[in-house]
Amino acid sequence: MTKIVLLEKIHPSAVEHLRGQGFTDITEIPRALSGKELAAALADADAVGIRSTTHLTAEVLAGLPRLDVIGCFCIGTNQVDLTAAMALGIPVFNAPYSNTRSVAELVIAQAILLLRRIPEKNARAHRGIWDKSAQGAYEVRNKTLGIIGYGNIGAQVGILAESVGMRVFYYDPESKLPLGNARPVPTLEALLAQADVVTMHVPGGAATTDLLTAERIACMKPTAVLINASRGGVVDIAALNTALREQRLAGAALDVFPVEPKSEKDEFVSPLRGLDNVILTPHIGGSTEEAQDNIGREVADKLARFLSAGTTRSAVNFPEVPHIEKAATSRILNVHRNVPGVIASMNACFAESGLNIVAQQLQTRGSIGYAITDVDAPISEELMRKLCGAPSTIRCHLV
Ligand code: NAI
Repeated sequence: MTKIVLLEKIHPSAVEHLRGQGFTDITEIPRALSGKELAAALADADAVGIRSTTHLTAEVLAGLPRLDVIGCFCIGTNQVDLTAAMALGIPVFNAPYSNTRSVAELVIAQAILLLRRIPEKNARAHRGIWDKSAQGAYEVRNKTLGIIGYGNIGAQVGILAESVGMRVFYYDPESKLPLGNARPVPTLEALLAQADVVTMHVPGGAATTDLLTAERIACMKPTAVLINASRGGVVDIAALNTALREQRLAGAALDVFPVEPKSEKDEFVSPLRGLDNVILTPHIGGSTEEAQDNIGREVADKLARFLSAGTTRSAVNFPEVPHIEKAATSRILNVHRNVPGVIASMNACFAESGLNIVAQQLQTRGSIGYAITDVDAPISEELMRKLCGAPSTIRCHLV
C-alpha cells in the first residue's frame, strides 16, 4: 500500500483530497522534522509532503531509497535539494499559483484605499484629527491601471480591475494574450507615464532588481500611486522614499521588501516606516485561508496523479509528462540516464517477454529521461528485475 507522510500541519484539504483519490495510509506529523527523526519518519514513505521548514537535503534523500515523490505544500522549493532529487529520479511538486487570487484581491483593495487617501485619513483619525476633506480623493472608476508583469497575478489583477471600472494597460517583455479589454504598452516608461495606479507583478532575480529606478519613478504622474506585492528587490526603495517625501508620488503600498525580518522576533526596518501615505504589509499578499486550502488541494492532486498514473506535469525538477489515463493492464514508470539506446533496449525487454506496448510517453530534461509505458499484460517480477537492473536505469516501478 502507498504510504504518504505529511509534515508541518498541512491544510486538511490535502488529506481530504488524497483520501478521495483512494490513498488511505496517510501519517500526519504536525511539525517540521530534521536529522534522525526525519529519517525515521520517512523510512518507509512512498511520498512526503512538507512546507517550508523541513529540509530535504541530498544527504537526507540518499537515505530514503523508497521515496518516490515530494510535495512542497507552499510556493518555494528552496528547502529541497532539487538537483539531488532529480538525480535520484524523484519529482518535486509545489503550488505556485494557489494564492494568485489572494494577491490580486489585495492589490485592488490597495488601489482603492490609496486613491481615496485612506491611509492618511486612517492615520489622522488615530491621532484624533477629523479630516473630512475630499481633496485628492478619487474613485478608481475610469482611472488607468498600469500592470508591470502580465503573468498569472498581473492578468488576474487586470480582470478584477476592469470589474470596478478601471482601464487596464500592461507592460511585459513577453507577448501575452490580453484578457478582457487590457492593452499592452510597448515600453515601461510609456506605461508609467499614463497610469494612475502602477502595480508590479514581475519575478525576482537579477533581471528585475531595481526595475523601478529613480528615473522610472520620475516618469510617473505626481498623483499616481505605486503598489508592489511581487518581490522586494524590484523597486529602488531609496528613490521611492525620496519621491514620496518630495510629493512626486501620491502614495504607495508595499507587501515585499529588499530585506525582510526572518521571524516575528526581528524588527522590520524600512525608510518608509512612518509615512502616512504608505501601506506596509508583512509579505501577506498570498496569505489567506483560501490560499492554504488551495495549496493543500493542488499539491495533493499532483501527488495523487503521480502516484496513480506517473504524471509529472508541472514538476519543478523533472521531465514533464502530462496526465494520460492508463491505456492497458500495466504501467511502468522508468527514470533513466539520458543516453542513447535506453528506450530501444527497454522495449526489447518487453518484446522478449511477449508484451505489446499500447502507449508510451517519453520526456527528457538535462541528464535524465522519463518514460511511461503501458503494456497489455501483467509484468513479471523477473522482467521488473531486468528493467530495474539495466545500467541506465535510475528508478523503475509500476503504478
Ligand atoms: P508569473 O511568472 O506568472 O508572471 C511574471 C510575469 O512578469 C511574466 O509574464 C513575465 O514575462 C513578466 N516579466 C518578467 N520580467 C519582466 C520585466 N522586466 N518587466 C515586465 N514584466 C516582466 O508570476 P506570478 O505568479 O504572476 O507572480 C508574480 C510575482 O508575485 C512573483 O515575483 C512572485 O514571487 C510574487 N508573489 C508574491 C506573493 C506575496 O505574498 N506578495 C504571493 C505570490 C507571488
